[in-house]
This record gives sequence, C-alpha cells and structure tokens, in this order.
Amino acid sequence: MAEALGTWKRSSMAGELNESFIGQTVTLMGWVQTNRDKGSLIFCDLRDRTGLVQIVFREEAGQEALEKAKALRREFCIAVRGEVCQREAINEALPTGRVEVFAKELKILSESETPPIQVMEQLDAREDIRLKYRYLDLRRPDMQRIFVTRSKAAHIIRQYLHQAGFVEVETPTMTKSTPEGARDYLIPSRKFPGNFYALPQSPQLFKQLLMVAGFDRYYQIAKCYRDEDLRANRQPEFTQVDLEASFVDEAEIQTLNEGLIATVFQEVLGKEIPTPFPRMTYREAMDRFGSDKPDVRFGMELKDLSRLVRGTEFVVFKNALDQGGSVRGIVLPGGAAMGRKDLDRLGEFVKTYGAKGLASIAYKEDGLKASIGKFFEPEKLQEMLEEAGAQKGDLLLLVADQNRVVFSALGALRLELAKKYDLIEKDTFRFLWVTEFPLLEYNEEEKRYVAAHHPFTSPMEEDIDKMETDPGSVRAKAYDMVLNGEELGGGSIRIHRRDLQERMFRLLGFSPEQAQERFGFLLDAFQYGPPPHGGLALGFDRLVMFLAGTDNIKDVIAFPKNQNAYCPLTQAPNVVDDAQLSELGIGILKSKKESNQ
Ligand code: AMO
Ligand code: AMP
Repeated sequence: MAEALGTWKRSSMAGELNESFIGQTVTLMGWVQTNRDKGSLIFCDLRDRTGLVQIVFREEAGQEALEKAKALRREFCIAVRGEVCQREAINEALPTGRVEVFAKELKILSESETPPIQVMEQLDAREDIRLKYRYLDLRRPDMQRIFVTRSKAAHIIRQYLHQAGFVEVETPTMTKSTPEGARDYLIPSRKFPGNFYALPQSPQLFKQLLMVAGFDRYYQIAKCYRDEDLRANRQPEFTQVDLEASFVDEAEIQTLNEGLIATVFQEVLGKEIPTPFPRMTYREAMDRFGSDKPDVRFGMELKDLSRLVRGTEFVVFKNALDQGGSVRGIVLPGGAAMGRKDLDRLGEFVKTYGAKGLASIAYKEDGLKASIGKFFEPEKLQEMLEEAGAQKGDLLLLVADQNRVVFSALGALRLELAKKYDLIEKDTFRFLWVTEFPLLEYNEEEKRYVAAHHPFTSPMEEDIDKMETDPGSVRAKAYDMVLNGEELGGGSIRIHRRDLQERMFRLLGFSPEQAQERFGFLLDAFQYGPPPHGGLALGFDRLVMFLAGTDNIKDVIAFPKNQNAYCPLTQAPNVVDDAQLSELGIGILKSKKESNQ
C-alpha cells in the first residue's frame, strides 16, 4: 500500500506550526504518533524531528482520504496536505496546541509493524530492547534533542578552536598501541600474520608528532577505544575533544579550555560559567574530599583526627597510625538519629572500598552514642566531635587505615550520603582544575612505578631532583578538569627533552631497548628539534551528558554498546568464518570457543 512521494514537497515542519500559519495550506511529512478513529472524524498526531501536530480527517477530505486515514497505525510514515486551522480544544501542553491541520490529501509512504517499544517522551523499556531497536528509540523526541545538542556543541567547539588558531587534523585509528593504561582493542593484520594494529586509546603520540612537525596548535574530535570495565560514564568507544599546543605552559592550556567550556555552556544552555575555574592541588583534593575529582557542590569535607587520637589504646586506630595511616571522619548533618541497621549498611558500604570498619559517634540532644564508646572517655569523644565540626544532631563517621583506603572509603561515603540525603545543590555546574598530580603511582602487583598520566608527562621543575631519590613524591605538570565530581578532561605539559625522557623511562623500569621498541618513533622524532608542548583531552560524551542533563553515557551516543561491550543492534562482536580467520593466520583456542557458547 506504500505510495511514492511523487511531486509532493514538504512545505513546513510539524513542530513549527502556530497561529501565524492559520489559513495556509501546508504539506507535512513524518510518522504517526497516535491515531483515534471517531467514525466520521479521525485524529492523528504527526511527528517529525521538530515536534507534533494534530491532523484531523473529516468527511470533506473525501472518501479516499478517510479510508486511508482509518488504516493508519502507530509509526506509519505519511505525508499530509491540508489547511492549518484554529484548534477548538486548545492543548497548552503542546507547543503547536493552538492549531490543527484539516487534511485534504494523505499519502501512506510506508507502513510499520507494531513497534516493539513505544516512541514516546517517557520510556520505560529495558535497555537491551532499546538498543536492539535503537532506530525506534532514536525516533523519540527527547533522544533527538540530545543529538541536536551534541551536534551543536561539536559545531561550537570547532568554531572556537578554529578562531583560536587550531588546525583540525585526523590521526590514524589503525595504529600502534598508545600508552593510556587501559587494554587495547586489536586488529589482526593479513599482510603480516601474527601482527596486530591497535585501535588508539587516544591520539596522544600523534598529536605530539604534529607538534614536532610544527603545527603549533592541533585539535581533533577523535574516536578513542579502550577495553576496560564499563560504567555509567564509560564506553569502550568514546569521543575526545583532543588538543595540543606548542610553546605553552599549564595556565595557557587551562585558560583556553575555560573559554571553550564557558562558550559551549553559554551558547547551548544560556548558562554563565564563571572563569577562571578554581584550582586545587591533588593533595588538597584528597585531604578535603578523599577524591581527585571532588564534587564541591556540597560540604561534608574529610577531617583528620589523627593528631587528636594519637596515643590511644584502641588497637584499630593505634595500628593505623603506627603504620603511617590516619584516622579521618566526615560529619553527616542531622544524622544523629540514624538507626542501627542503616549504620550497619554504611559499614558494609565502606568495606567495598577496602575499609575494615566504620566507627560512629552520634551527637544526640541527650548525650553521645558511639560505636567506639568503650574505647574512649566521653570527653575524648566530645573533642573528636568538636575537631570534626559536628553540631548537636549530627553524626560523625570515622575510618582508620592506610591513607589510600581512608580516602577512597570516606570519599565514596561522602558522595553516597549526599545523594541519599539530598544534600547536593541542584542545577549548578561547579568546575575546577585539579593540579599537581603525582607523576608516578606505585603498582602493587607489578612492584614498580607506573606513569600516573602517561610516560610523556613532565615532572614539575622543582621536583626533578627527587626523581630517583623519592619518586613517589614527584609532582607532574598534569591537570584534570573536574565538573560536579566527574573528570571531564585531563592533560599535561609533556617532556620534550630527551635526557629527561630517558630518566622517566628508567624510573618506569623500561630498558633503553624496550623504550625504543614501544615508543621509538616518538623518541626518534624528539631528536629533531621538538618544541616544548602540552595539551588536554576533554571527554566529549561526558560534556554532552552534562549539557543534556543525563547521567547515562549511552543516552548521548547514537549506537552505544551495552555493559558487556556488546551491541544488541548489530550483534557485534560476532563469530567470523573460518576462512577469514585462516587468511589472518588465526586459530581460536577450543576452551575460549566453548566459553563463548
Ligand atoms: P585521559 O585518559 O584522561 O587523557 O582521557 C581524557 C578524557 O576522556 C574521557 N574518557 C572517557 N569517556 C568515556 N568513556 C571512556 N572509556 C573514557 N575514558 C576517558 C574522560 C577523560 O577525562 N591523551 C590524554 C590527554 C592528554 O594528555 O592530552 C588522555 O587520553 O573525560
Ligand atoms: P569492635 O571492637 O569490632 O566492636 O569495633 C568497634 C568499632 O570500631 C565498630 O564500630 C567498628 O565498625 C569500628 N571499626 C573497626 N575497624 C575500623 C576501622 N578500620 N576504622 C574505623 N572504625 C573501625
């Protein structure tokens, strides 16, 4: 029954009709959202990318149009020609709700099976169903709005960086492994059986080569690939706004990106973002928030009570302090009345972050109630409350352990409680830069230092002397842009001196041969007058999440993977022909084959 478009041309978009169109004949094209058959009167909502408008078929439209209109079902693709009229029953909830179109002619361009998910604003379907029928999911107006926002943001970013003298250059996605710390996705080579390309985890090394090449200012909206555990803000295939500049320091990269962000938020949301963003050192962020990406929309900062409880006989606290750890706490305002069950639950919660327990002191109207009451005099407990800044009615929660554990447990508990008790300021964007990250992290499993950012990140001048004597304390010229507790971007000033780069590799335990084997092409390039340079990459998907007001990264990627990095739509990854494999010189281990079935 599908009809051809013939000579019909669309005259208007459905969502743009209003009273100024009254009396005009319009031709609309789109999908049937709903239809209601009232006998001689048939109503249908026609939807296109811009919105909905009500179409009315009356007897005047003629028998043929009426018959066709009766056959309409949800998601049929149609074209309608008719006159815009004042609507009798005005629908204020609909932007086009003051008008309707009296149809004169109707073409059914294609029919639709009953859709497996509803194409409506609010949708409750299971995620895998949504992803399997993503093209229907994406027909939903709220999804389309997100992609219009995404497109607009990309456009503004390109414009801004172009004006700032940045050149957009594409870099390969079939390349050699880049060192960003996640697992690589590999592509087997047919020409060199047993050899693999890697999909880039970021364009890091190429953008540094472009600086050696004298491009001065580079950017790219680049696809990156990382095989890591997925979360609400992580996809295996994601997009960075990646940039690099020569002859710059940290402040210049930061100022440029503040301007970029402020422009995007202004133009997309009409929101003023104050610049410059506050700066906070990594050290301060950990001390105050237990996190290198602090959410500063609320207080509940960590308080160090180590000094106060030093000398205690309570073994848990004593051991932590004797072993170089600390005792720290956070105060939950108004939490003194929390019951036993909830306290136990919080105890379980911090255990998932490695803490061995959670001590509590409730500052009740009629006295104190502490889980550690039998180990401390009431005066001491009172002092602890005061030191932590607790008021009557509050609850103090304490963790004693190695600093690493204390920070991660209390940092997570702080966020958990703030969400649960609704303490986070709404509709606000709190940006900051976290600076002076450690250059190196000690990897317990490998028993060696690894680069905290990547091996080309420059140490701070004042710490270079400590690289060999006290590597753990060396700070890097690295910075992260943080928004509302999320890492939105990260970057650094790079090492461009060969001698310093060699020292860095030595610290990381690479022999000169190993370094040459992995990064030889970059080291070679550095023999030919590399300029001092640095840059940053913003997570573009994460930025769009904020602009669109969603906390699920899948909402801002047109065709995302599910939690298992699987695509329910295309059913990738999939088994390939034995012939394809043998051409690549690849056999699959029997045990792996079975586990896949
Ligand atoms: P980094 O590894 O910090 O830096 O990545 C930069 C930003 O990319 C985003 N991001 C992700 N977004 C979605 N899914 C993921 N799996 C994912 N992984 C990272 C984050 C992060 O802040 N080459 C360096 C940048 C540089 O030094 O210039 C880099 O890739 O928002
Ligand atoms: P117990 O002696 O096991 O009854 O512990 C007394 C209190 O100390 C309980 O509230 C425990 O949850 C708490 N506790 C145990 N280990 C730690 C720790 N590492 N940090 C903070 N509190 C702890």
